[in-house]
Amino acid sequence: MDIPMDGAAASASLRVRVNRERCQGHARCVALAPELFEVDDFGEAREIADGWVSSTLEGKAWLARANCPELAIDIERAGEAA
Ligand code: F3S
Repeated sequence: MDIPMDGAAASASLRVRVNRERCQGHARCVALAPELFEVDDFGEAREIADGWVSSTLEGKAWLARANCPELAIDIERAGEAA
């Protein structure tokens, strides 16, 4: 996986992804990590900034993943296959 070297993504080592087929719109991810997730017009979550997580927000990324009742949040580490 290539990491873009611009903006906040420059130091990112994690990337979050919302599995849109699993997401049921519970919005816990948005409540716990509004810097990383937003809800679209259909009430489903999507990742902000293409999912790149700055080092200061890694804890929130894992917290959001652990609190999604649909297990709809995936986290990739830089260098891992998608
Ligand atoms: Fe969807 Fe889970 Fe967030 S169901 S809205 S990804 S808490």
